[in-house]
Amino acid sequence: MEEKEMNEVFTMPKIGDPAPEFKATTTQGEINFPADYNGKWSILFSHPADFTPVCTSEFMTFASMEDKFNELNCELIGLSIDGLYSHIAWLRTIKEKIEYKGMKDVEVTFPLIEDIKMDVAKKYGMIQPNEDDTKAVRAVFYVDPKGIIRTIIYYPLSLGRNFDELYRVLVALQTADEHGVATPADWRPGDDVIVPTAGSCGTAKERMESREDMHCYDWFFCTKKLDEDKVWKSIKKK
Ligand code: BEZ
Repeated sequence: MEEKEMNEVFTMPKIGDPAPEFKATTTQGEINFPADYNGKWSILFSHPADFTPVCTSEFMTFASMEDKFNELNCELIGLSIDGLYSHIAWLRTIKEKIEYKGMKDVEVTFPLIEDIKMDVAKKYGMIQPNEDDTKAVRAVFYVDPKGIIRTIIYYPLSLGRNFDELYRVLVALQTADEHGVATPADWRPGDDVIVPTAGSCGTAKERMESREDMHCYDWFFCTKKLDEDKVWKSIKKK
């Protein structure tokens, strides 16, 4: 592989970077990313290939959950290194023929990018040649309303993603932004959240609105209650 080509293939955007820009053809028309999504969250995700079983299970699951993501002001955008006609035929097959785990008649209405030349996949580090040099790995990029990459997750070809976890990540990112907190291991709405400490529990306490709700395990580890209702009210679209 030429050096220039290697550099393109190994471009890896990082958390905190502006999302690399691209224009692309999709099953829902042209998109200009991230400009078209200004003011919204988006999840740009890749899959290895149309007409493959793991990808089919993933698309049916993601499409079935799309409303939940949309309620959080978040749009889904898929990508693979297949052409538009393959995408259209595969999505039609899913809708017309596949019944899986109680899901049937599933219509994928979010855009699926055609990326035959791998232009977008290369920009987003979705081609990982030691896994496969002609298929995208299962990458997931969370881009915030200002076009900044906030979370990146990569899975190998053989491993279907956990879509409850993809949803949990979005909820946690938005909750952290809205409430100025961090979220501990396995956090779900209703669980205690972490108060950012600035060197001591006393400092963290001073930043609290309601001190009695705070619990410090040590000077560097303080949590506070955040009601589940308050979380959903703060992040769900009005
Ligand atoms: C699948 O989606 O089933 C798949 C795709 C590429 C390689 C392995 C599995």
